[in-house]
Amino acid sequence: MVQKKDQKIAALVVAAGSGSRMGGSSPKQYLQIQGKSMLEHSVAALLAEPRIEELAIVVSPADILGQHLHFDDPRVKVARVGGNSRSDSVRNGLAFSALAQDDWVLVHDAARPCLLTSDVTKLIDHCLATDHGAILAVPVNDTLKKTLDGSGIEKTVSRDNLWCAQTPQCFKNGELLKALANPSEKPTDEASAMEAAGHLVDIVKGTPTNIKVTHPMDFWMAKAIFQYRTQGEIRGSH
Ligand code: CTP
Ligand code: MG
Repeated sequence: MVQKKDQKIAALVVAAGSGSRMGGSSPKQYLQIQGKSMLEHSVAALLAEPRIEELAIVVSPADILGQHLHFDDPRVKVARVGGNSRSDSVRNGLAFSALAQDDWVLVHDAARPCLLTSDVTKLIDHCLATDHGAILAVPVNDTLKKTLDGSGIEKTVSRDNLWCAQTPQCFKNGELLKALANPSEKPTDEASAMEAAGHLVDIVKGTPTNIKVTHPMDFWMAKAIFQYRTQGEIRGSH
């Protein structure tokens, strides 16, 4: 794997959403699983990859809990620069991080606490080996139906070559900043902005348990995933 001299690998964890679909009195990134917030789990999974030299967490300036975040690891900085949309938060976080054009940045949702460090390692290895950006994703398993009006089925869509995008998504800082500067519409992930800007984006096969906690049911699933892993450790297997 080739990491150019002076080329840094950084991470950006976006945690400036309001969690409207989740509901609850505080934003979902602060919900606790096994004594740690989802944000802390997401950050820990990234920091366990030693090649990540710095990590910025983007929180909303209006987020009271975000003012009191503390991480012992000196690689972590909290950026109170969240924007109205996810892509605004990413753009502001990249400006805060002030990385060099050629540095790599892994953008990750705080709301994906079940991320495995082994997948982070795979993603970084791929980007360094190919010298272009990539994302974690998993193949679509279900049969896909397109409806006419939300109920009647118009047709079955082939799932061949279809993938569900996850995070982290890893790109060169300069290229990502340019792609996000003038997006045609608000992209929901970094890859779509990069694709629209004409970049080839690779897929690195991730793990299906790297779910995004969007609705209350997802939070129960995330808790179950952690519980399963802990039991696996106790039994000495995974
Ligand atoms: N996010 C962000 N800034 C925003 C919106 C979202 O940093 N303006 C972050 C969220 O904190 C989350 C990730 O982007 O970690 C994925 O977004 P999503 O799951 O949509 O979270 P929310 O926007 O918080 O939830 P909702 O859309 O239900 O309000
Ligand atoms: Mg959202």
